[in-house]
Amino acid sequence: MTEPLIEVSGLYKVFGPKPASVIDRVKNGESKDKLLNDTGHTVGLKDINLKINKGEIFVIMGLSGSGKSTLIRHFNRLIDPTLGKILVEGIDVMKLSVNELVTFRRHKMSMVFQRFGLLPHRSVVDNVAYGLEIQGMSKTDRIAKATEWLETVGLKGYENQYPAQLSGGQQQRVGLARALSTDAEILLMDEAFSALDPLIRSEMQDQLISLQEKLHKTIIFITHDLDEALRLGDRIVILKDGELVQQGSPDQILLHPADEYVEAFVKDVNRARALTVETVMQPPAYRITAKTIEEALVEMKRIKQDYAYNVTEEGYQGVVTKESLLNAAKTDASQSLEDDIYEEVPVISAGSAIEEVLPDTMSCDYSLPVVDEDGNLQGELERSAVAEIFTDTNEAKTASKEDLTVQPVVDKAS
Ligand SMILES: Nc1ncnc2c1ncn2[C@@H]1O[C@H](COP(=O)(O)OP(=O)(O)OP(=O)(O)O)[C@@H](O)[C@H]1O
Ligand SMILES: [Mg+2]
Repeated sequence: MTEPLIEVSGLYKVFGPKPASVIDRVKNGESKDKLLNDTGHTVGLKDINLKINKGEIFVIMGLSGSGKSTLIRHFNRLIDPTLGKILVEGIDVMKLSVNELVTFRRHKMSMVFQRFGLLPHRSVVDNVAYGLEIQGMSKTDRIAKATEWLETVGLKGYENQYPAQLSGGQQQRVGLARALSTDAEILLMDEAFSALDPLIRSEMQDQLISLQEKLHKTIIFITHDLDEALRLGDRIVILKDGELVQQGSPDQILLHPADEYVEAFVKDVNRARALTVETVMQPPAYRITAKTIEEALVEMKRIKQDYAYNVTEEGYQGVVTKESLLNAAKTDASQSLEDDIYEEVPVISAGSAIEEVLPDTMSCDYSLPVVDEDGNLQGELERSAVAEIFTDTNEAKTASKEDLTVQPVVDKAS
């Protein structure tokens, strides 16, 4: 079981002169608009419960004003909750003393901002070294470390430039290098790529993914953009008017949107691009383990099928049909299965996007074998399963309500 690194329970945040005086109205389900009209208080967050695991990219999504920034500002206690608890590595952030809080902010979490947040009068390397300076590192050490991180994010040679001399994407790389250089385990990224051009943005996403493969940070990433969320997120939560409306894996969100609000987000997503083979593949149904034609025929008879996937100790071998086996048996049934007995069936991998395997799926008579790097048969991809993901989200939702592992949040107060 993965330990949650951050655990938020029963979190409420009300902005205004006397939050405590209106908290019951919030709990009783009064709408954000009505509360604001009647009392001048704004609901920032309402009964948020979530766990963020170590090493994951956790995406927070929602429209403007839904509470995303408010939520992450609670993690390093830039904001105090009206009610509720925030634990980071089991430590209640509300119980930290002033000194502990300072250390906590310097070492545990670092932030990457939408507008890069660079200091204009400091060189690039000094910008990166800034967090280390605050941590109290000596000048030589911090410059060396900052230089290294600049190289990691692809900015070698730019050390002595000033932020204004860099493009948006480069500036954000500096922001990223600065956040990474502190060795903080948790990276808070609030709309970090939103100010960038689409192409640069996509490059930054790639870079973040490849950095994460090496660094295994815990990244909390805020975005408005579902494509970005799907691409980066191991898990996604969706906020609406301060409430958590859905949390789940990208696939779960895409296939089973909890309500109309989430549906509006997912409706324009190209599912064939966003979903992988893994989400729709089945366990291999017709599988035999034969070395000779004879053995294959016996096994085929037992499973009562006309074709099967042959898997030996050496892994997946190919698709055999009863017809070709019978033909070959006429010459010599005891001969071992040679390459030419196998059908021409392309092999696919679980991590591929459906879009990539679509032509093969449609042109092949058999379900495609899904084979891993070691040659093991992991599953098969049926044409009908692929067709299903193109059906309307509503249908998909009703069809698989049973296995709905996402948690639409029920308003406890009502
Ligand atoms: N300091 C504050 N004082 C009063 N209200 C606030 C304050 N900070 C946030 N709010 C309110 O709380 C709600 C959530 O704001 P928040 O900034 O968290 O939204 P967001 O999801 O980050 O939006 P955006 O995508 O525009 O950044 C909004 O209604 C906002 O007006
Ligand atoms: Mg925000």
